[in-house]
Amino acid sequence: MTLPKHIAIVMDGNGRWAEARGEPRTAGHRAGIEPVRQVIRECVQLGVSALTLFAFSSENWRRPETEVATLMGLFMEALDREVEELHANRVRLRVIGNRQRLAVRLQQRIAEAEAKTAGNDGLCLQVAVSYGGRWDVVEAAKRLAARAASGALRANDIDEELFAAELQLAGLPDPDLFIRTGGDHRVSNFLLWNIAYAELYFTDLLWPDFDATELQRAIEDFTGRERRFGLTGTQAGATKPSGSTAGGSKK
Ligand code: IPE
Ligand code: IPE
Ligand code: MG
Repeated sequence: MTLPKHIAIVMDGNGRWAEARGEPRTAGHRAGIEPVRQVIRECVQLGVSALTLFAFSSENWRRPETEVATLMGLFMEALDREVEELHANRVRLRVIGNRQRLAVRLQQRIAEAEAKTAGNDGLCLQVAVSYGGRWDVVEAAKRLAARAASGALRANDIDEELFAAELQLAGLPDPDLFIRTGGDHRVSNFLLWNIAYAELYFTDLLWPDFDATELQRAIEDFTGRERRFGLTGTQAGATKPSGSTAGGSKK
């Protein structure tokens, strides 16, 4: 069975989960923490090399102030509570996104957690907070433009490999499996560049109801798919691309 090397998840549906119970949306966000722990644990056990979780988008800043504040509080709490266990499981944690928009205190805790786990050789866990796929691409373009303007790089030398190296997921294989809970079939500005050839998996389950078994279900579905990367079925069957590196970019 070919496991995905990198799984990306849009954890959607917390608010509706809570509303269905007559509880405030924030109760759903709180209930969304346990599935995160389960999914991480399952990825560690299965030997998946990377997991990227969408926790808060660039657009989510426009939600009511109290909901944003609760979410930020939950990140802080979860970070403080979970870092030791992540470290003990050799997980390398990184936060991707525009962290300048986060409270300085949260930025500091993130930096500490990243530094603590930086040397770990287990699961690469990325948590996307204040992240937008378009933001990611624009930031990469800015850095390349600055290098070109300074003469360190010729504009014509920019290729997919150089570009990808400036993105938040630089150095990681592209996600093979993209999961979205909550019933909507959209990307909502998650990893736009990196999911070019990801297999998309949608489930109606709301995020707080997701668990390790549901992750296994998604992986099982993934293993049954034929990934062609633009080739014919015969070619794809004969060459068996190793997943993330196919499709032109040599990362
Ligand atoms: C996902 O759940 C968590 C965040 C976007 C922060 P939602 O809060 O979007 O839940 P729904 O989609 O409104 O049910
Ligand atoms: C996507 O969910 C972002 C996260 C899960 C963090 P949203 O709830 O923000 O997406 P839309 O608004 O339904 O597209
Ligand atoms: Mg939502």
